Amino acid sequence: MWNLWCLSCLVLLFAIDVVGQRFQTKWLTLSGDAPLVIARGGVSGLFPDSSYEAYTMAMETSLPNVISWCDVQLTKDGVGICFPDLKLDNASDIDVHYKNNKSEYLVNRVLIQGWFSVDFNLNDLAPVTYCFAHWNKNDKPREKFLIITSEGASGDYQGCTDMAYTKAVSDGADVLDCPVQMTKDGIPFCLGSINLVDKTTILQSPFSNITNTDPVLNIITGIFTFNLNWDEIKSLKTAISSLWSGFGLYRNPKAINVVGGFLDICKKCHNSIWCHDQNRDYLANQGFGVIAAVVEALRNTGYNNQTSKKVMIQSKDSSVLKEFKKRSYELVYMIDDNIRDIESATISEIKSFASSVILTKNSVFRSEDDFLVGKTDVVKKLQSSNLLVYVQRFNNEFVSQAWDFFSDSSVEINNYIVGAGIDGVITDFPRTAATYRRNRCLGYKHPSLYFSPVETGGLLQFMSRQSLPPAEPPSPILTESDVVEPPLPPVAKITPASNADASPIAQSSVVAGVLTCCLTILLADLS
Ligand SMILES: *[C@@H]1O[C@H](CO)[C@@H](O)[C@H](O)[C@H]1NC(C)=O
Ligand SMILES: *[C@@H]1O[C@H](CO)[C@@H](O)[C@H](O)[C@H]1NC(C)=O
Ligand SMILES: *[C@@H]1O[C@H](CO)[C@@H](O)[C@H](O)[C@H]1NC(C)=O
Ligand SMILES: *[C@@H]1O[C@H](CO)[C@@H](O)[C@H](O)[C@H]1NC(C)=O
Repeated sequence: MWNLWCLSCLVLLFAIDVVGQRFQTKWLTLSGDAPLVIARGGVSGLFPDSSYEAYTMAMETSLPNVISWCDVQLTKDGVGICFPDLKLDNASDIDVHYKNNKSEYLVNRVLIQGWFSVDFNLNDLAPVTYCFAHWNKNDKPREKFLIITSEGASGDYQGCTDMAYTKAVSDGADVLDCPVQMTKDGIPFCLGSINLVDKTTILQSPFSNITNTDPVLNIITGIFTFNLNWDEIKSLKTAISSLWSGFGLYRNPKAINVVGGFLDICKKCHNSIWCHDQNRDYLANQGFGVIAAVVEALRNTGYNNQTSKKVMIQSKDSSVLKEFKKRSYELVYMIDDNIRDIESATISEIKSFASSVILTKNSVFRSEDDFLVGKTDVVKKLQSSNLLVYVQRFNNEFVSQAWDFFSDSSVEINNYIVGAGIDGVITDFPRTAATYRRNRCLGYKHPSLYFSPVETGGLLQFMSRQSLPPAEPPSPILTESDVVEPPLPPVAKITPASNADASPIAQSSVVAGVLTCCLTILLADLS
């Protein structure tokens, strides 16, 4: 038996371009030079640690003077290889290739079982190397796209608050969104849910005893926005933590029309509004006319006839958009299911009531288990019919991007803009998109590899068969019948006194299937 002494092993650091570029500006490092990037085992967060792919990707995507870190191990024939651990089974699939070649050694006086590099010749280890071709260099960069918020800068602040909207404006968002809800006394305001329990601390308020269950909306613990008057909802802000600066859009205490307040914020910004109407049929049956209230708010704030700001109305209900068609706003149709294709008859139908479409990320780049498996033609088909395509929803959190994008929010945006050519992103973090859009590298004739879109399915070819994600059933194709809807029901006549107790169950046959319908106001600046 051998004794192996791991002397906290030898590490080689190799720099690709040691000279690099000296920057004119001083950095806050001891030397004043730019900080170095040391890639431990290459791009080891994505590829097998110390693999050829990991190092190649590090060299292709990082700084010109990136330093690659290599833990040196020796093979039986005396060749030094880079591997992060004494045991090869620690970070490779050698146990699959050489099932019967396990051995044991005393390592620093401890008996350890596994697959050790000293048992294998370099050639034996060949099955783990690949050819590398992940980047496609041909596409041209494009920097013109709309940055549309999702409840303001809701990644930074509680959605739909003054702070979230103000931050979104200063971060450079082009379009602010207001998901419209109704109060019991018929006032439209912006909040991301019809259920106050989701978005406020109402359960800690004196109103906590009015919770109810609503099978129509599939809500078990609910206090609905239309259960309370605006004055009561307004009072909730004192019950809410200091992060909550009061309901967004509620700026001027004298203006009880909160959608009006939102519209006032937008007048000061260089941006657009976008309204979504939640639960339109449901509210109509409860006696609330959301559309009429929104139209009224737009008129009261002068948005009906000004030309420097663009009002967009977004809904996943074609019948809602058709109501607005008479009023010359840009109408945005949301397809919130993942789809893999769209029929041309469907596109013609959409064109009859909308000029732009929102898709999910998965309807553009199909992914399974966070690995890209393909790209659809949906964007191309919609755009060739002169429909603008916006995609939702972009986040900063690294778990929200496919591995192919290195879990990097800018790489992800770049792929949707440069790789798929979409017209706008809907994001919780407008600053990330705005920073990306300002990046000077986008204007270069030959952009760096970092700004080239990834090849879909590119990662899958490096994966061993047993680690491939399980195949998922394909998303459906969007057909005309998915889009066509009966006209809106008339607003029911319900006396205010009975509002709180009105049972929605009695009307469920009318509202079934349209439960999460929404209408959003969007506002954009044209000046
Ligand atoms: C690989 O080695 C590291 C460090 O010794 C250890 O933390 C980790 O659990 C090992 N992983 C496997 C799969 O053996
Ligand atoms: C693996 O073990 C078998 C015997 O079980 C032997 O014939 C073979 O040469 C070994 N392969 C390597 C790469 O050591
Ligand atoms: C809830 O509690 C308040 C007092 O805090 C009371 O006035 C009201 O009637 C209660 N409502 C219900 C539905 O129990
Ligand atoms: C815009 O509409 C408001 C009221 O709706 C009206 O007072 C104003 O004169 C109109 N402005 C123009 C330029 O038509």
